[in-house]
Amino acid sequence: MIVAANWKMNPALAAAGVLARALATQAFPHIQRILFAPHPYLVPMSVRLSDGDVRLGGQDCHSADSGAFTGDVSASMLRDCGASTVLLGHSERRAAHGETSHIVAKKAAAAIGQGLDIMICVGETKAERDDGKAEQVVIDQLRVSLPAQVPASKISVAYEPVWAIGTGAVAAPDDIAVMHAVIADVLEERFGAEAVPPILYGGSVNAENASAIFAVPKVRGALVGGASLDADAFARICSAASRRAESGIAER
Ligand code: PGA
Repeated sequence: MIVAANWKMNPALAAAGVLARALATQAFPHIQRILFAPHPYLVPMSVRLSDGDVRLGGQDCHSADSGAFTGDVSASMLRDCGASTVLLGHSERRAAHGETSHIVAKKAAAAIGQGLDIMICVGETKAERDDGKAEQVVIDQLRVSLPAQVPASKISVAYEPVWAIGTGAVAAPDDIAVMHAVIADVLEERFGAEAVPPILYGGSVNAENASAIFAVPKVRGALVGGASLDADAFARICSAASRRAESGIAER
């Protein structure tokens, strides 16, 4: 199980330091935690996380390693600033920065080339769901966003229905189950049944609904936006993941 905090363009630096110290001083057995921090915070957060087991990640990277790309950040820069992973293809970047799945694949290849792990986001809009196209949209996004020659061990996928992000309208467990099965099929085709990378759910995950989401088949964690800015709420989500992971181990 993976629980990832996506801080987006939040919070102020002083509050970020307090949140990161809370993350570093807590421990949750059987799960991996990741903090996707704003780029200017990577170095200060890497210092604050240094004595804990939380991994640090960037929220995007460029596909080139260096060059005339004002305002962009390369995968090697993220790595040099303490990140070991990067979030790619978030719907806010797809929508607000015109990021296509082809661009995501190039970024993913660059990140893997620099030794970073990648978390690729996919998800349909409300209009696509209402049109009955949700599954096809997600399948297409995923197939194109995954670069050639990427090792399964370096990847995770976050299914984030766009209409569920930041709205409080979490997807129904049955819909999450269907989409996670669809994503698992694509990943199985690509990597084989034994090497399907973790598939996370994201979109209005909070301390109250986390346990129910983690009980859905094939859900291997959560990508958490708003609730990750509240240390107590995020800790409760991590504890739910930890309990789910423990029961998974007991079932085996
Ligand atoms: P949310 O954001 O938890 O605030 O809905 C999730 C995300 O965008 O990753």
